[in-house]
Amino acid sequence: MCGIIGYKGKRNASDILLSGLKRLEYRGYDSWGITAQNGEELATIKRTGKLSDFDGKLPSSHMGIGHTRWATHGGVTERNAHPHLSCDGAIAIAHNGIIENYQELRDELSAKGHVFKSDTDSEVIAHLIEEYAKEKSFKEAVRKALQQLKGSYALVAIRRNGSEIIGARKESPLVIGIGDGEWFLASDVPAFIDYTKDVVFLGDEEMAVLDRGLEIVDIGTGSPIRRPIEKVSWSAEQASKGEFEHYMMKEISEQNETMRQVLAHSDSEIMGIAKRINEAFGVFFVACGSSYHAALTASYVFSKIAKKHINVVYASEFPYYEDFLTDRTLVIPISQSGETADVMQAVKVAKSKGAKVLAITNVMGSSLMRAAHWSVMMNAGPEICVLSTKSYTSQVALLTMLAYASAGRLAEARAHIEKSVAEIERLTSAETKIKLVELASKLREKENIYVIGRGTNYPTALEAALKIKEVSYIHAEGFPGGELKHGTIALIEEGTPCIVIAPGDETHNEIISNAMEIKSRGGYIIGLSPENNEIFDFHIPIPTFGEANALLNIIPIQILSYYLAVLRGCDPDKPKNLAKSVTVK
Ligand code: AGP
Repeated sequence: MCGIIGYKGKRNASDILLSGLKRLEYRGYDSWGITAQNGEELATIKRTGKLSDFDGKLPSSHMGIGHTRWATHGGVTERNAHPHLSCDGAIAIAHNGIIENYQELRDELSAKGHVFKSDTDSEVIAHLIEEYAKEKSFKEAVRKALQQLKGSYALVAIRRNGSEIIGARKESPLVIGIGDGEWFLASDVPAFIDYTKDVVFLGDEEMAVLDRGLEIVDIGTGSPIRRPIEKVSWSAEQASKGEFEHYMMKEISEQNETMRQVLAHSDSEIMGIAKRINEAFGVFFVACGSSYHAALTASYVFSKIAKKHINVVYASEFPYYEDFLTDRTLVIPISQSGETADVMQAVKVAKSKGAKVLAITNVMGSSLMRAAHWSVMMNAGPEICVLSTKSYTSQVALLTMLAYASAGRLAEARAHIEKSVAEIERLTSAETKIKLVELASKLREKENIYVIGRGTNYPTALEAALKIKEVSYIHAEGFPGGELKHGTIALIEEGTPCIVIAPGDETHNEIISNAMEIKSRGGYIIGLSPENNEIFDFHIPIPTFGEANALLNIIPIQILSYYLAVLRGCDPDKPKNLAKSVTVK
């Protein structure tokens, strides 16, 4: 998954591209590059490593493209960094996606004399355009080249002596920013939100030509397409770190606000979705990672409150369920980015079987939003940190409301969530953070951390473990409280840390006895519970708010994970090998 950007206008393109790429680094940060066009000249700079390490000079111009990379084909090297150029150096492209037939295309182009400089799949696009440009206009050459590609792409392209910048997409995101006499193209809105909030979301297999005006055409037929100009609700401030050192802590600290955004969904909207869930014959939640954990949490609430069974399936596993799907099935993909390839594949399978698709996502105009029959926006604001924090609790809260609404008890859900807002403010206060820094300093050298919970706090244990491992690189595993003794308890030794999620609910006594099993084998017990307990070596007080408890219990672990990362010298916003949205299967 990578970030691409293009600019044409009155400002210095390199400045816009560099600042925009910094906003897109969460999409990939192995390497980056910029190509600036100055009439006859296409000047390209490429570097491995992070943009923030660059202190060199950039070419000045009024049009250019840029790219920040998460390596898929070809190692992390300068020559594999984008933008990629044609043989004659007259065409430059930046690409996000996977070209599945790149080897075949590369062989054909090599046979025609094209010389490749990188090991990437993307470079074939530059040479393919060059080939077609021998007989066609630049616009038609790009369109023809795109027709040959199998796989996914979001592309920006410019040429020497050209006045246009071209963007196109298929399954990977690309949004157009419309400024005053200037144009932006980017993978995501934060890249240019400082300059304009007027956007056009390109549809699948559409190409935009930005010159003196905006022209959008269908890639297959070339026929013109009209797309509305939409206003983005985010502010530039939301897409920046503000006074925080990292986006991760900023977004953790915003969770009281994201709860308010969840509560802002109208009763009619929530009840309308709940009605679709109640009328369906078979409902599937489909998601990955943290979004999957939110879905699993909700399945317990649907069972307990609405007496309804919801199937919860990893998106990558969902295609293996296709024989179970009917035209009465309701599939609910849950995805913060709305671009996760596994989720998009699951949606394709669902629709092929006639199932209806109701998406829950955080990104307006995302591929998932466009592919679904209906969609619900999380309205959590931009989440830049690779880790899902505020979007996770936003999903849990929204799904909890749907579960209660499904049982005709929406007002109760609202009450629980409203009560949780004040508690979230306490849990993200400086006082709590100081306590968690103390815990992080005790755990920073540990090699393994275990987390146990029961009921809705079993998925919380899974989410807790994911947070810890993906940002601090400490191995962590989450378990149902009753499962640890069926094998993994063999790994518990003196000092092995185990986080025990023990709310004051029906799971309390049993999870405490599971904690005792660990304690008796030397484990170091960290208790998340309303009251302290003699078996806790470290206590984090958390009140119990009925079914909204899963919202609260994860927050101290998010903060703990952040401090573990900082103390271990890891980058909380851009963990190694990860990207914010996984647009490869
Ligand atoms: C969460 O911290 C991870 N970064 C990751 O598991 C993420 O939740 C997963 O990739 C799903 O992303 P999505 O919600 O955008 O589909």
